[in-house]
Amino acid sequence: MHNTNLAPLAARRTGPLAGTAQVPGDKSISQRALILGALAEGETRISGLLESGDVHSTAGALRGLGAELTQDGPGLWRVRGTGVGRWKSPTVELDFGNSGTGSRLVMGAMATTPITAVFTGDASLKSRPMKRVVAPLEAFGVTYEGQGDKALMPLTLHGAHDAQAITAQVATASAQVKSALLLAALNAVGTSRIRQHVLTRDHTEKMLRAFGAKIHVTPSSEGGEIITIDGPARLMGTAVEVPRDPSSAAFPLVAALIVPGSVVELPGILLNPRRIGLIETLLEMGADITVKNRRFSGGEEIGDLVVHYSSLHGVTVPASRSASMIDEYPILAVAASFALGRTVMRGLEELRVKESDRLEAVAAGLKANGVKYEIEGDDLTVCGMDRVPGGGTVATHMDHRIAMSFLTMGMASQNPVTVDDVTMIATSFPEYQDLMRGLGAELYA
Ligand code: S3P
Repeated sequence: MHNTNLAPLAARRTGPLAGTAQVPGDKSISQRALILGALAEGETRISGLLESGDVHSTAGALRGLGAELTQDGPGLWRVRGTGVGRWKSPTVELDFGNSGTGSRLVMGAMATTPITAVFTGDASLKSRPMKRVVAPLEAFGVTYEGQGDKALMPLTLHGAHDAQAITAQVATASAQVKSALLLAALNAVGTSRIRQHVLTRDHTEKMLRAFGAKIHVTPSSEGGEIITIDGPARLMGTAVEVPRDPSSAAFPLVAALIVPGSVVELPGILLNPRRIGLIETLLEMGADITVKNRRFSGGEEIGDLVVHYSSLHGVTVPASRSASMIDEYPILAVAASFALGRTVMRGLEELRVKESDRLEAVAAGLKANGVKYEIEGDDLTVCGMDRVPGGGTVATHMDHRIAMSFLTMGMASQNPVTVDDVTMIATSFPEYQDLMRGLGAELYA
C-alpha cells in the first residue's frame, strides 16, 4: 500500500531525554465511549477523549447513524444517543479511514438493527479482513456483501430483523471480534453467551456494565471465560473519563530506556491488566520502570510511570502474553535491538492482519538498520547489539506504530533512522512529534 503524498521524517541520536510526557487518551476506550454513547439513551459526557484521526472517523460514522456528537473542547465531548436498536440507515458510506476498531465495533453495534450501511476506509483498512467480524455476526441473522473471500471493504452490511440471542465462541484472539458480538447481543432477544479462550482487552465489558447492561463474566472450566449479556438492553448515558493510552506511552517509554541518561515521567497511564504485557516484558528485560500512585479512574486502573535509561537483556516472551501487548511488538522489537542477547517473541500470527503486516514491516525495518533477526513461523527473534547501526529508511505501509517504533530506534542508533511517511501517526497520537521534541528528541524532515 502506498500513499501518494508521503511525509518522511528522520530521528537522530541525542543527549538524554528528560521531562514529563502527557500522552493522549486511550484509543480503545475513546472508540467505545463514542459508540456506547451513540447507542445509549440520554447524554454521555466524555473527558480525555483521544482527538485523533481514528476516533474522529468513528464520530463521523455515528453521526451518519443518527447520534448527536458535540465537541465542547479538546477531549471534552457530549454524545446524545438514539437508544439501542434505533440507529437509522446512513445516506452516505461510512468512511472509517484507518480505523479497524471503529469499523468492526460499529458493524457489531448495528448488526441486530434492521438497517443497511456501507463500510469503507483508506487503502490500509480496505486490505484488512472483515470476514473475522461479519461471519460470526451471521449467527444473529446479518447478511453482507464484501470484496472477495476475506470480505474486504467496501462492505455492505444488512442488520438482522428480530434477532435472537446466540451462543458463540470467539474463534480469533481478537477484542474487536468479541466486542462486535457483545454489541450485537444488545438488541437480540434473550441471553447471549459469548465464550473466549484468549483473554483479550475487556474495555467493552467494563463500559457496558457502566452504561447499565446486564453483563456477567465467569471463568470457564475449559479455560478462558464466558460472557453472558441480556437483550434487548437499555443503555443509559453516563460520564466516561478516558485514561492515557499505554500503547502510545510505549514510544516515549522505550525511548527513555534506550537513550543513555534519560529520565521520563508518564502520568495517568491506563494499567488495565490486559494491556500491560509490554511493561511486564520490559521489567523482565531489566528496565527501570517505577509505577507510582496506582489508582482507579473511570473504572480502570491507572498509575504514574517513571522510566530511567536501563541496560536491557533479551528474554523469551511467551505466546500467552501476546493479547496483552498485541500492539506493542514493533516497539518491543526496537527495545530488543538494544538489549544484550536474543529476545524471542512467540505467537505473533495476529500481527499479520494489523494496519500493515507488522511482522514483515518490523523485519524489513530491522534489516534496513543492520539488526539481525530470525522469523520462524509466527515467532520473531531479535538479536540485540551493543551499537545499533541505524542509517536505514523504513517503509511504514500506512502503519502509525511502525512509524513511531522506528523513529524511536533512530533516537539511540549510531546513524539516523528515516521513516518514509509519518502521516498515519495522526490516527492515534497526533501530538507525537511535539511531545518527543519536548523531551529532547531530534526529529527532522
Ligand atoms: C483493539 C483490539 C486489538 C488491537 C487494536 C485495538 C480494540 O485488535 O490491535 O489496536 O480496541 O479492541 P484485535 O482485536 O484485532 O486484536
